[in-house]
Amino acid sequence: MASLPDFDAQPRSLFLNDDVQQRLARWNHRRLAPAFPGPDWERALANDHAMLQLEGAFIEALRGPVRERASAAPRDPANFVRWFEALKEEGPGQGDPLFPWLAEEASLDDMRWFLTQEAAGEAGFDDLVAYTQVKLPDRAKLELARNYWDEMGRGTAKGMHGPMLNKLVAALELRPTIETTVWESLALANAMTAMATSRRYAWHALGALGVIELTAPGRSAHTAAGLRRLGVSGKARHYFDLHAVLDIKHSDAWNREAIAPLVAEDPRRAVAIAEGALIRLEAGRRCFERYRGWLW
Ligand SMILES: [Fe+2]
Ligand SMILES: [Fe+2]
Repeated sequence: MASLPDFDAQPRSLFLNDDVQQRLARWNHRRLAPAFPGPDWERALANDHAMLQLEGAFIEALRGPVRERASAAPRDPANFVRWFEALKEEGPGQGDPLFPWLAEEASLDDMRWFLTQEAAGEAGFDDLVAYTQVKLPDRAKLELARNYWDEMGRGTAKGMHGPMLNKLVAALELRPTIETTVWESLALANAMTAMATSRRYAWHALGALGVIELTAPGRSAHTAAGLRRLGVSGKARHYFDLHAVLDIKHSDAWNREAIAPLVAEDPRRAVAIAEGALIRLEAGRRCFERYRGWLW
């Protein structure tokens, strides 16, 4: 892959398939796990290099289709935030019929399959925020810190968001694995991990994380309603009940305290933030379509 051609000219299926996304998912799982130094660290590094090239080519391929829409975003903070917030209604995958169906019609088996896919593709919002905040300007860093502290249950294990989702996975006896997860869901997590861990995509990560906060409440409310209808206990479904409400506040604060001042400081960031948000929404849209194809 020494001389990579123009990524836009490549078919998207080059990266959007089971093989590439499972390889990226397995590599992310391995490379982010705390470990010990081993005798073969140089060989591991050579493998990391090849995987980083694959990951970079993957993100460049995802940028292609969203570039035009992102470059049309306003560059002044107030108008940019308005543009960004309009993605809630007008962004790719928004208003997908999958979610009202989950709320009103899905069987418990349907819901279990959906949540297994979602859980396997979950990259860990807390860790993505932690990676993204490195070396950010103070005001944005403070907002990411407040958001992270909420993810950490403000210092109590019981309130941590990650383990909260694990409780639902355990209650429904789900077995999420990379091998049984559709590539669309893996691609979403792989794209989020790539943007948060590569500093050249730091502003993209900010946009992608911000658009999750913006759009999660609607999906969470529908999922929570479906779980309630299916008799899942309040304790088990707490993750979705919580995010249906809390992320409205998270989104307001993210846009006001992180996005607006960052764009004011350097208007070029508006385009990168917009690209990141659109990459994340497109990844979600592909998931919802694939899920509907399987479930309906
Ligand atoms: Fe959360
Ligand atoms: Fe949140």
